[in-house]
Amino acid sequence: MANRMPTSIHSYPMIGGDGPHSYIRNSSYQKAAIESVRTKTREAILAKTPNFDLNIYKIADFGCSVGSNTLDVVQNIIETLKLKRQQEENKGDNNEHPEFHVFFNDKPDNDFNTLFKTLPQYYLDREVFACGVPGSFYHQLFSRNSLHIGHTSNTLHWLSTTPEDVCNQNSQAWNKNSIHCTNLVNEVTQAYKKLFEKEIGAFIEARTQELVSGGLMIILGWCLPDGVKMIRTWKGVVFDMIEDCLIHMAKSGITSVEKVESFNLPIYFPQFNELKEVMEKNGCFTIEIMEEVKHPMEDMPLSNDFIASIFRTTMHGVIEEHFGDGVVDELLDRFAKELTKHPIDFKDCQKDMQYFIFLKRKTD
Ligand SMILES: C[S@@+](CC[C@H](N)C(=O)[O-])C[C@H]1O[C@@H](n2cnc3c(N)ncnc32)[C@H](O)[C@@H]1O
Repeated sequence: MANRMPTSIHSYPMIGGDGPHSYIRNSSYQKAAIESVRTKTREAILAKTPNFDLNIYKIADFGCSVGSNTLDVVQNIIETLKLKRQQEENKGDNNEHPEFHVFFNDKPDNDFNTLFKTLPQYYLDREVFACGVPGSFYHQLFSRNSLHIGHTSNTLHWLSTTPEDVCNQNSQAWNKNSIHCTNLVNEVTQAYKKLFEKEIGAFIEARTQELVSGGLMIILGWCLPDGVKMIRTWKGVVFDMIEDCLIHMAKSGITSVEKVESFNLPIYFPQFNELKEVMEKNGCFTIEIMEEVKHPMEDMPLSNDFIASIFRTTMHGVIEEHFGDGVVDELLDRFAKELTKHPIDFKDCQKDMQYFIFLKRKTD
């Protein structure tokens, strides 16, 4: 059987619940990204969805996390499908009341409980049927030909693990002096790129299996403009600051140098052309749209508190997994203080890039 999910997968969930550091309360950066493509998504669904001629639509959000972002995304898709049906009904087609099955996917450690506690009333009125699907989206999660629309946002820069070679002292790609892919050392970049290509290839292959002919896959994510190095972006600068804090903590004996040297973020921002190549390689989708979209906060210097809150909610899990829970809060507190002392000079940074991809499953 193809693409079986391993029993144990690395998991570094966003902070759950609804406390002060939770993803629910600290994901307005990701929400702004979603908002920026709301109309574009609507127009593309209206223009590209085939007349499926059915009364049950199956929609999946891959890497949903917790909170209103995934609910907004799904609501936009459902409203658009309803509008599309109304337009078809005016032509005399499909006049039955449609049902929507919505699948919220994330890794098993995601706080699905909080997500389900915050479902809007229309889910409870049984207009929309919700279901949680735990597992890695780098594997097939649904039966073949069963989904009509897939969506994912702010997710695909998360690799399922760190490339082996960057943690291997005997490898040319040993990333001893950094905790991320700065793009300064070619061997390190190649190791990350290789894993990224493998995993995105697997993501697209899994969706190839799951989506019906004419089914749509909507992807919103982050990459780098061709030629820009991660280290030059504000996010790269932040990763370097986290690394500096870790080094100081190792010097104070709070963690060990070995632990710091063996820590590498499972995060990779591809160059736009690398991403395009992987998307084209699969061949089972037509790329209806693949373009840069401006993030609404792109031109405003983000405040220190805002940056610290984004990084706390998204990085807490991955840091805790490697260093243990005695280190993570201390590190994130130190990072917040470091930002206050040395704010990021946004004028000095190059921009990363938000992309929007709209794929349509070809007929076999
Ligand atoms: C930054 S959050 C994005 C949440 C939401 N999609 C949004 O746009 O606000 C990234 C989410 O992707 C999930 N994720 C990362 N890798 C994943 C994988 N391999 N399979 C499923 N979910 C994954 C994380 O657990 C996390 O909840």
